[in-house]
Amino acid sequence: MADRYLRFTGTAPGRFLTRRLGLPQPAALTRWSAERPDLDGGLLHLTAGGSGLDLTSVLARTGVAPAGSGRTAAVVLDATGVRDVEGLAEVHAALHPVVRSVAASGRVVVLGAPLDLADHHQAAAQQALEGFTRSLGKEIGRGRTVNLVRLTDASAAESTLRFLLSPKSAYVSGQVIEVGPGEQPGEQPSEEPGEEPSAPVDRNRPLTGRTALVTGAARGIGEAVAETLARDGARVVVLDVPQAGQDARRVADRLGGTALLLDITAADAGARIAEALPDGLDVLVHNAGITRDRRLVNMPAERWIPVLEVNLASVLRTTDALLKAGTLNRGGRIVATASIAGLAGNAGQTNYGASKAGVVGLVRSLAPRALAEHGVTVNAVAPGFIETKMTAAVPLFIREAGRRMNSLAQGGLPADVAETTAWLADPGSGAVNGQVVRVCGQSLLGA
Ligand SMILES: NC(=O)c1ccc[n+]([C@@H]2O[C@H](COP(=O)([O-])OP(=O)(O)OC[C@H]3O[C@@H](n4cnc5c(N)ncnc54)[C@H](O)[C@@H]3O)[C@@H](O)[C@H]2O)c1
Repeated sequence: MADRYLRFTGTAPGRFLTRRLGLPQPAALTRWSAERPDLDGGLLHLTAGGSGLDLTSVLARTGVAPAGSGRTAAVVLDATGVRDVEGLAEVHAALHPVVRSVAASGRVVVLGAPLDLADHHQAAAQQALEGFTRSLGKEIGRGRTVNLVRLTDASAAESTLRFLLSPKSAYVSGQVIEVGPGEQPGEQPSEEPGEEPSAPVDRNRPLTGRTALVTGAARGIGEAVAETLARDGARVVVLDVPQAGQDARRVADRLGGTALLLDITAADAGARIAEALPDGLDVLVHNAGITRDRRLVNMPAERWIPVLEVNLASVLRTTDALLKAGTLNRGGRIVATASIAGLAGNAGQTNYGASKAGVVGLVRSLAPRALAEHGVTVNAVAPGFIETKMTAAVPLFIREAGRRMNSLAQGGLPADVAETTAWLADPGSGAVNGQVVRVCGQSLLGA
């Protein structure tokens, strides 16, 4: 499972040899740890296209101090005011002189405005920011990431900026994330009797007092998601099939949570979850997933049906059941798991690609209604190549291609998907809805 090439290129002879041969040069990414929770350096705040947003207080709350004359770990370019090609020239003028100085594993975050469909000059200029962001992501190197956030309300984007300006987003690059207006009153979970009405949220444990259920959490990405949500303060319910009971209990015990052993494809899975959670659920992560690869010409229905059942039908069924039963509390979060195979397609995966594209359709359709009717957001993560048992079983050549064919030239870790899920699950992420966020190091597949 270990990426030996990444280790080799981290040594002096490895660096020398791979540079001489023109081979990929993956940088060791800096990821979140309790000892090093923040980026190593300061923040440069720039503006292009005239007046920008008032970001001072929001950026101050992200925990990254202004760079001053010190090391620059992150650049935020406010391009929300860019309305024409002249404004785009200011994007170039702002970033051209500073991009070289951004530290390894640093961040460039471009802020854009929603496209104004009544003004094709503004729409052209704002759409241009996507091509700019994705191109810079592909060339910037040294483990640095570039993302675009479209927003109108700076304070509604606080949790998103905090995530992108931290080591937690190490494997998220080349993404366009839309942040809507802030949460409407009534979307906050109801207060417990006697609780302080607006008790400040502990930024290090934003899920304190919340319950999170993760399907397929006995191992792999699901285990990492459960671990990260527990780190953030959630009581976790580790759901997996009875055959994985031992692992599920081990994970639950380690995290101080509970195991719920059931097959998510069972017709009564939603009812059994609701029964197990009489006090309701705040975060529902649909992570359980399977593959049964075969080209369509060789694929019998026995390989098609279970993939669609586990990856899509059960997600639709349990979501419907839990929303209908009122198990999902107001202010709740649903995070489903898509895949870049669902966005780009993948040979041998017509069943899997269909199921994961179906998840994207579910998110797009349900997100606005679930927020309006239940106060619950619905988003998806779309992992790229993640180092798990699933991908360790892939033949070496395809595995190497999967690892290198992205801007960071390496596979992601389960923790990268988990951190992205935790950001979407954050009570402060109520303005992030209907998004499909790829955790793929800006994979060339479907880019
Ligand atoms: N690993 C990757 O590179 C990658 C890439 C893209 C998407 N994904 C998606 O991420 C998710 C997790 O992937 P992983 O690599 O950790 O997989 P994994 O096979 O390691 O773990 C999946 C877990 O889901 C459980 N599960 C399977 N069917 C179930 C069912 N019917 N009911 C309850 N639990 C069930 C399994 O027992 C297992 O514990 C999946 O949805 C997968 O499609 C993974």
